[in-house]
Amino acid sequence: MTQDIVTLPEAVVPTGAKSNSRKVFIKTYGCQMNVYDSGRMSDALAGEGYEATEDMQQADLVLLNTCHIREKAADKVYSALGRLRDMKKAREAEGREFMIGVAGCVAQAEGEEILRRAPDVDVVIGPQTYHRLPQALRKARGGERVVDTDYAVEDKFEHLPDAPKRSGPRIVTAFLTVQEGCDKFCTFCVVPYTRGSEVSRPLAQIVTEAEKLVQAGAREITLLGQNVNAWHGAGQTGEDLGLGDLLYRLSEIPGLARLRYTTSHPRDMDDRLIDAHRDLRTLMPYLHLPVQSGSDRILKAMNRRHKAAEYVALVERIRTARPDIALSGDFIVGFPGETDADFEATMALVETVRYAQAYSFKYSTRPGTPGADLEDQVPEGVKAERLARLQDLLLKQQREFAESCIGKTIDLLLEKPGRMPGQLIGRSPWLQSVNVDAKTSQIGDIINVRITAAGPNSLFAEVAES
Ligand code: SAH
Ligand code: SF4
Ligand code: F3S
Repeated sequence: MTQDIVTLPEAVVPTGAKSNSRKVFIKTYGCQMNVYDSGRMSDALAGEGYEATEDMQQADLVLLNTCHIREKAADKVYSALGRLRDMKKAREAEGREFMIGVAGCVAQAEGEEILRRAPDVDVVIGPQTYHRLPQALRKARGGERVVDTDYAVEDKFEHLPDAPKRSGPRIVTAFLTVQEGCDKFCTFCVVPYTRGSEVSRPLAQIVTEAEKLVQAGAREITLLGQNVNAWHGAGQTGEDLGLGDLLYRLSEIPGLARLRYTTSHPRDMDDRLIDAHRDLRTLMPYLHLPVQSGSDRILKAMNRRHKAAEYVALVERIRTARPDIALSGDFIVGFPGETDADFEATMALVETVRYAQAYSFKYSTRPGTPGADLEDQVPEGVKAERLARLQDLLLKQQREFAESCIGKTIDLLLEKPGRMPGQLIGRSPWLQSVNVDAKTSQIGDIINVRITAAGPNSLFAEVAES
């Protein structure tokens, strides 16, 4: 699940920051893990006197937190760097400092190459080393161009400062990274190379961070990991714990009303995790469970290590545990060797599962992955046709799901101001945005609403009589 996300109204504005302090603008590409990382980089920079800005023109430092997942994602970085070049020239002519940093997965994958292709970049910093960003910037200020993409031996989470106090509206939903990296090596995917092997954060560290988020106002926390359900830890007597156990533990935190997690691999959906969906009212009935393809032949070539029927059976088990669960998925069309029949198997799987939400992509050849060397690459035109058909079907299902909500009374977590005065946007249990008339002072409350209508990207509701 990837999209461009500009960081963040919630980005750090330390209270009491001096107005003459330096300003940083962070542009976040890619997945939620990058959103989380951008927040932590902001925190690390706040300690150096940097104030976050949403206006790039005001920035003394522009950080691009990048994504390498598809070719287009990586290309965006270089076009953004091209545009920053002129800005840097103009600033230097005024005698003002202007630094450019590249962080995230392109930084990790390309390292030095970025300095070669983009002579204005001052700092290249990987996802495992961004806690060392302040040092890197100090070196860069001394005239050195810095590349720091080693896998750090120290635990970066231990080296990150606490989030400084924020001004502005209360933040009621938060991300918390619990696991990073991936050992699955799907043959299309760069993540095992950009994020390294699977590492889980210890239970106590996660609980402490969750408690702090709740103290700061969070009502809902989404646990993040490239393979979040591969999280494992140790209990008090050294017993092995999995993500299910972690969810049971976190749901004991007073004031924490809602939990989610993303992204999961079907192979790691164990019984305890499915039980958590059955038992925990705090665990929201929404699951992002990518399958990529409905063809066993292609699943095998992708090294997904499960069959289509196993996925469908797993979905049934999860739905038995939590009947109102909404499913979301990721799909790739046009993986090398994908025939019409393989693609039809994907369409059939989608018909069987019925998704409430989905992300679908044309296969993009990524250098260094096994998929790049396969023969039988599928022509662009065929990929485009298949993607259009798949997206039509997924959109239809998404609309059907949204319409099925009309008339229902649901719990709504009021999250932020809406577009119209007097309106707030809330989050449904199924991760939909819902517009409702409510007061700003109610942000953070969970209220009962009745869904009245479904628009293309959000729902509309009225406050229900209680
Ligand atoms: N860890 C998650 C997904 C991470 S990447 C998982 O295992 O499901 C997010 C999504 O990007 C993937 O699910 C996949 O659908 C898509 N993706 C990854 N590599 C891709 C590639 N080379 N071309 C097209 N889509 C890709
Ligand atoms: Fe990539 Fe596969 Fe790992 Fe997901 S499980 S991050 S798709 S290698
Ligand atoms: Fe992109 Fe890296 Fe996330 S490649 S999808 S930003 S893990």
